[in-house]
Amino acid sequence: MKPSDLHYPSSWEQRSPHLGDQILFIPEFYSNHHLWEKRPFFDDENPIHVELCSGNGEWILDRAEENPDVNWIAVEMKFKRVRKIWSKMKNRGIKNLLVVCGKAEPFVKYYLKQAKQVFVNFPDPWPKRRHAKNRLFQGEFISDLATCVTDELTFVSDDSCYTQQVVREMLGSKRWHSLVKDPYVENLEEGYGGSYFQRLWKDLGRNISMLRFAPSKVVKLDLSLRSRLDFPEVQGDLWHLDLGLDRHLPRMLDTMIFQSYRLGIGHFLETYEVPKRIILYDGSLDFVEEMIRTDVDMLAFTDWLKDEFKSVDNLRVRTGIETEAFVDLERQEMIVHTMGRQLMRLYCVDVLSNYLHRLSALLPEESEVLVRFDYTGVESESMIEQLLSSDRFAHLKILGREIIPSNRAICLPSDEMMSEEIVKQLDEIFYVVRAPYKVIPEGTFNENWHEIDEVIVVSQALSNVGKRMLHGFCAAGGRVLTCGERVGVVEEETWKVSG
Ligand SMILES: C[S@@+](CC[C@H](N)C(=O)[O-])C[C@H]1O[C@@H](n2cnc3c(N)ncnc32)[C@H](O)[C@@H]1O
Repeated sequence: MKPSDLHYPSSWEQRSPHLGDQILFIPEFYSNHHLWEKRPFFDDENPIHVELCSGNGEWILDRAEENPDVNWIAVEMKFKRVRKIWSKMKNRGIKNLLVVCGKAEPFVKYYLKQAKQVFVNFPDPWPKRRHAKNRLFQGEFISDLATCVTDELTFVSDDSCYTQQVVREMLGSKRWHSLVKDPYVENLEEGYGGSYFQRLWKDLGRNISMLRFAPSKVVKLDLSLRSRLDFPEVQGDLWHLDLGLDRHLPRMLDTMIFQSYRLGIGHFLETYEVPKRIILYDGSLDFVEEMIRTDVDMLAFTDWLKDEFKSVDNLRVRTGIETEAFVDLERQEMIVHTMGRQLMRLYCVDVLSNYLHRLSALLPEESEVLVRFDYTGVESESMIEQLLSSDRFAHLKILGREIIPSNRAICLPSDEMMSEEIVKQLDEIFYVVRAPYKVIPEGTFNENWHEIDEVIVVSQALSNVGKRMLHGFCAAGGRVLTCGERVGVVEEETWKVSG
């Protein structure tokens, strides 16, 4: 059989899905996928393993030959490549393989009933930022996959940015958990099998990483103040304890309410075996309007502000906010001022993170305590980083902000150094930097620099202590990429936003 012996089964005008002779055609630009009745693709009950983005099919053809007790499905959208897989399959007499000519997204959503394992080897990385929206692993696809994969999903890539994105999107979706411990990445195991792209990247000395995930059973329990705490008999991988904090944030300042949560959590721990992963908060990162409502709330906020900035002069220089005294600050004016609102958010997040740390102390040490945020309303990446900085959420893991191994860092200035101009510069850095990077708050830089070789700093936002730490970092072999005026350390290069 030659590749050209495979013909497209229908004309463009009459296009419709077609199954037969070990091949399923799923047409492009077709709006009736939902009419397909999901049906078994194989005559036996053997487990199904799927490879998405199969290319010329080298990897899956070998797997299918080596593992006859498994049924395999290769999904590839380019007809030219499908023809190659199909002809090799026929010539090698492989019967336990189905080739799908079509896109992975509709296949997973409308055609695949269930698969034990799904593999994605070297999917197109779309390295340019403006093209990243074309990557396969995005919201809806990730949920669709979670509904049909029973055991495991494996993702292999040489592109660290895409790998980072997949970790964040998969774990941030709550529907998946990593089978590889933090930092989630494994080297490609011996005997995994090869492909054209695997050899290409290996020969070029590129680092190839593998991610492995399993679908999560998420159980959401009502632990809000109205709950009767009658929990169902269920098992779960991820327990979402819905305390209602996202709806009733001001109550965080009420100590009686904390006692009530303590009772609820106690009852939860008595009812179920030690839970591995628990979500304590799943809600907005911008809840200023809900939390700072009254004069009393405003007073608590301005007290906090005074602690942070010490003097109104300091506040004015850093943020451009003019006032005679902290107590004179008006709620509405702060809310509409870019930096004013960010300061309010910081205060709210500080209160929330303290509260969550107190709550997490009630949970067993072996449980991983998680939080998840909706960033709607926070317009800038550096503002998000500032709100979620590791010194605020030291003992909590933030779902969807995971970092794969990286020897690069961006130094996050201390809160009082964050002016509108610095936010702008940092946003540009976050936008341009391609490789995964850790974000290290300046205040914890010396505790963390052993993990990194290179740090990007905005020199204008460095404190004197910060500058001194950079000398130490260079003395220990590190390199500084400076945005703005040079700091004067030995290993320093100017970092240009355009670079
Ligand atoms: C970089 S190649 C890797 C091929 C193969 N896995 C390998 O390791 O050699 C990516 C392949 O994915 C296919 N592809 C890209 N997006 C796809 C999609 N949405 N559905 C199916 N195939 C897709 C491309 O046509 C291409 O053949």
